[in-house]
Amino acid sequence: MSQQEQWSSKIGFILAAAGSATGLGAIWKFPYIAGQNGGGAFFITFIAFTILLGLPLLLAEFSIGRTAQNNAVDSYRTIAKGTKWHYVGILGMVTSFILLSFYSVVGGWIVIYLLKTITGGMSGLSSAQYGEVFGQTISNPLLSISVQFLFILITILVVSRGVQKGIEKASRIMMPALFVLFLILVARSLTLEGAGEGIAFLLQPDFSKVTSQTVLEAMGQSFFTLSVGVSVMVTYSSYLPKNQSLPKAASSIVGINILIVLLAGLAIFPAVFSFGLEPGSGPVLLFNVLPTVFSQMPLGMGFFTAFLLLFLFAALTSAFSMLEIIVSVLSKGNERLRQKYAWIIGLSIFIVGTPSALSFGVLGDVTLWDKTIFDLADYAVSNILMPMGALLISIFVPLKMKKSELYEELKRGSTLKRAIFNVWYSLIRYVAPILIIAVMIDVITG
Ligand code: PFF
Repeated sequence: MSQQEQWSSKIGFILAAAGSATGLGAIWKFPYIAGQNGGGAFFITFIAFTILLGLPLLLAEFSIGRTAQNNAVDSYRTIAKGTKWHYVGILGMVTSFILLSFYSVVGGWIVIYLLKTITGGMSGLSSAQYGEVFGQTISNPLLSISVQFLFILITILVVSRGVQKGIEKASRIMMPALFVLFLILVARSLTLEGAGEGIAFLLQPDFSKVTSQTVLEAMGQSFFTLSVGVSVMVTYSSYLPKNQSLPKAASSIVGINILIVLLAGLAIFPAVFSFGLEPGSGPVLLFNVLPTVFSQMPLGMGFFTAFLLLFLFAALTSAFSMLEIIVSVLSKGNERLRQKYAWIIGLSIFIVGTPSALSFGVLGDVTLWDKTIFDLADYAVSNILMPMGALLISIFVPLKMKKSELYEELKRGSTLKRAIFNVWYSLIRYVAPILIIAVMIDVITG
């Protein structure tokens, strides 16, 4: 425990945990999944899951991490000695591994766009041409694998230096900057001709479009954007000093996340409708729409470059957390082992992840249940492994942790009222497991 690194400040922890949460999920994935699932109804369902399940689960992971002050696997061992509960941490490691294997593909696309924009290759094209550029880019095998490698390489280099030095400093500047740039982007998007249709698409729910699959996707998406169910937040909160308020940290992170999701939606959908693009066009959505919006602004390509840089940063801070959870379990606080495992695991993830990168080109025809390798990895993580992890955590906390001790842990540094604590406890104990199981059963039988 003495080897456990600590965040130097509370804001450092919040930024790093918010950095893990805010990434491709809110900015790239949310708009396209919402686009495929009818817009408004998906958005509302997503918000409901985020508040009802995501927030309580985030707090549950925080209380496990800070109570045990240990890595993702040993935290469960510390709290429930002699049981098999540490498999929840191992499940988190496996989930993280698969997650980073396809996350890095999209991270790589940002790198390509950044390079293309800086070298002037992105200015003055029509939206159809932007679509072509994207198509060519992601189907080029050598290019997509090289940038995927670069993305993982940066992740390895940062994680091998240790979380605090690596993550905390940069998060302080980049996160607020991303936010400001988003505001500018939204302002432009909302003033485009025909923007109203996009706003209506995002904010006016049409519940006739909701199927059991939509509900599962909304639940998976709410876990994905908050990084819950993977024990990443167990790991991060274990570095947090005892006098910081966990409920405050959790609610700020959820608040930041909902805000970014809303901003991403308001940046993308008005533009989609204004330019006559297809909201259900899938993973390409953001990469087609954004350059078109930016090219309609004065100094557009300058802003686009800045946006891509911050977007890359947001994706990287999430990627760090995925590698960190695995490396911290294996290295157990030993500096030299940290370096070694960051490289071994990082490179293995790259090798396992190359078929995902190739599934937009040469391996595009390889499908299982109608899904490409990339889609399959994403589906398994978001809609099966993360809900499973979340379910187990919601069972673990009330079963293995004393209610009075949980209250003490959550009350440290905060003015948490008993009544609010009781609401949280009931959400974790009853609502979360019942809802997760119900959604899963509904999909399987539906
Ligand atoms: N929350 C991240 C995002 O929205 O991009 C993804 C993520 C990171 C999920 C870490 C899970 C995780 F453990």
